Amino acid sequence: MLADEPRNEVFREAIVRQAPGATVLEIGCGPDLFWSLCATDAGADRVVAIESLDDSARRAEKLARDRAPGLISVVPGLSTEVTLAERADLCIAEVVGCIGGSEGMARVIEDARERLLSPGAQVVPHRVHTLAATVCLADLMPDGPGMSESVVPYVESVFRSDGGFFDLRMCVGGIGYDAIRSTAGDVEDLRFNDGELRQSGELRLTASRPGGVDGLLLWLDLQGRRGGEHLDTLATQTNWLPVYVPLLAGEQLSLVPGDVVELQVSCELSTDGVHPEYRFAGTVRHADGRRVPVTAESLYGRSAFRQSPLHEALFGADGAR
Ligand SMILES: C[S@@+](CC[C@H](N)C(=O)[O-])C[C@H]1O[C@@H](n2cnc3c(N)ncnc32)[C@H](O)[C@@H]1O
Repeated sequence: MLADEPRNEVFREAIVRQAPGATVLEIGCGPDLFWSLCATDAGADRVVAIESLDDSARRAEKLARDRAPGLISVVPGLSTEVTLAERADLCIAEVVGCIGGSEGMARVIEDARERLLSPGAQVVPHRVHTLAATVCLADLMPDGPGMSESVVPYVESVFRSDGGFFDLRMCVGGIGYDAIRSTAGDVEDLRFNDGELRQSGELRLTASRPGGVDGLLLWLDLQGRRGGEHLDTLATQTNWLPVYVPLLAGEQLSLVPGDVVELQVSCELSTDGVHPEYRFAGTVRHADGRRVPVTAESLYGRSAFRQSPLHEALFGADGAR
């Protein structure tokens, strides 16, 4: 992640502009204390850095002592559970998921505004906008979907720690705008400095190319600060890979330009009260008048196993894994 220069540029530019003289809170500093050190280098007055993973917090504490003695305090724990002596006027939080809010950032920032930040405090990133369009994975991967070898141990560890199998959220690398088959629409719009954290609504995708459709592709448009450059993760490859969400319909979907996929997006917090679960339900409206009901979901918690053709291909008895 530290080598993800497009991501880094968005955060760095926003921090360097806003940190001088500020009291800073970093939520999720990780072991490398990357953005807290960037803030002190840029002239922040002082920084409190919270990290929920014990080992990462310990390593961050050591770095703070070595690199910025007296300027950065590392607090182990979850930001939603710690109490701090002072409110901050700049908050840095790289808790952005491949679906922008999927790591729980909306709830984390709401809580920080209530308890840890001064009124009017600025948040970096300023905006995380998640977009969607239709896609046909079967056409993109004619030999069938596969997992890169580097991902396999991670997937196994998720199943092990969860005590069972379920349909994991899947990302697709190496694709761009030429993969999508419709206009793009809004799934989620998190404007952290405008008090607008929208995670539901209507998605209306008009087919722009003829052919099969088997899922939605979700990606991010991210802004570090108000007025700053946008990072579009479908145009520029970053660690936030586009997410593929299978569309479930009673038939194979084949669309012509002008056909419309209308979906209601809903988002509920999972049982941990932080991580959202996204559900899509609606209709494909064919230009010739036919209507086909469709659903899709991208959940945080345990869900069904091998429910979609993608997961069947990846994890089925005859699948790749
Ligand atoms: C994506 S990493 C980012 C690490 C580093 N800030 C960077 O940008 O390279 C997110 C980090 O936030 C931590 N984290 C997530 N939610 C948190 C929360 N609510 N409070 C504290 N730490 C959190 C995770 O443990 C993880 O180390």
